[in-house]
Amino acid sequence: MFFFFYIYPHRELGPAQPIAFSHRVHAGVKTIDCRFCHPFVARSARAGIPDVQKCFFCHEYIIPLHPEIRKERRYFDTANPVPWVRVFYVPDFVKFKHQPHIQWGNVECVECHGAVETLDRLPAVSFQMNFCIECHRSRDAQLDCWLACHH
Ligand code: HEC
Ligand code: HEC
Ligand code: HEC
Ligand code: HEC
Repeated sequence: MFFFFYIYPHRELGPAQPIAFSHRVHAGVKTIDCRFCHPFVARSARAGIPDVQKCFFCHEYIIPLHPEIRKERRYFDTANPVPWVRVFYVPDFVKFKHQPHIQWGNVECVECHGAVETLDRLPAVSFQMNFCIECHRSRDAQLDCWLACHH
């Protein structure tokens, strides 16, 4: 829907991640709620990436011997955070916050991130200003925030 505002066209495959984590398997097939793993999305600027403890909430019991889960286990045992590769970006001068969108705006994840629950690897996406402005215009959301949004 808003994909035509992205600087880079939607690519089939995103960058390889340190662990082959799949949104299709977790959010799609197993229908685990986005907010279970990204719990801060409605109350802070950032949605948050789950840390390894959260994976073992399930993977202590589910396929614990899977090679990718063993990799995960090594991060856990050595108390190293998984170096996930960021895939969604806004330009540095744009201050984006999730909270107003989720809490007051009722904007769904899919409107900005696409159907991540259908993807094994998330594609790299760089949002352009038009992406923000077009939607704000169509929803009668604030447009004069742009001064406040730029720093
Ligand atoms: C209005 C558009 C919009 C909506 C709605 C939205 N996001 Fe985002 N999201 C973004 C943008 C823009 C970024 C990049 C922010 C940055 O680079 O600072 C981002 C980044 C993220 C990140 C990266 C890391 C972080 O902590 O920010 C995660 C995870 C994420 N979003 C999850 C979600 C989930 C889950 C939902 C729904 C509950 C959601 N987003 C809804 C626009 C949106
Ligand atoms: C709420 C439970 C739950 C959480 C939390 C969870 N997973 Fe899973 N995961 C599953 C289930 C269920 C499967 C499917 C197992 C099967 O195929 O039998 C799975 C499968 C996988 C697989 C194998 C996928 C494949 O290709 O077959 C990997 C790798 C994986 N998870 C990594 C992770 C990582 C990394 C985290 C933490 C960021 C995580 N999981 C968090 C439930 C969970
Ligand atoms: C079982 C945990 C889990 C669930 C459920 C989950 N995610 Fe994620 N999400 C992750 C992990 C781990 C990463 C980092 C690895 C990656 O980018 O694939 C991530 C990354 C992301 C990112 C990219 C952040 C960035 O910029 O690098 C977005 C956007 C996102 N998730 C949105 C969602 C949405 C929307 C849903 C629900 C449809 C969802 N996630 C469900 C664990 C989860
Ligand atoms: C899919 C639609 C959509 C997109 C895309 C979107 N927004 Fe929003 N935005 C909204 C809605 C709806 C609100 C909530 C308006 C309200 O009720 O106050 C909002 C609120 C905001 C607010 C809070 C304004 C205030 O009242 O304090 C800021 C700041 C903001 N957006 C910045 C951005 C930026 C920066 C981007 C691009 C990275 C972006 N938005 C992309 C729909 C969108």
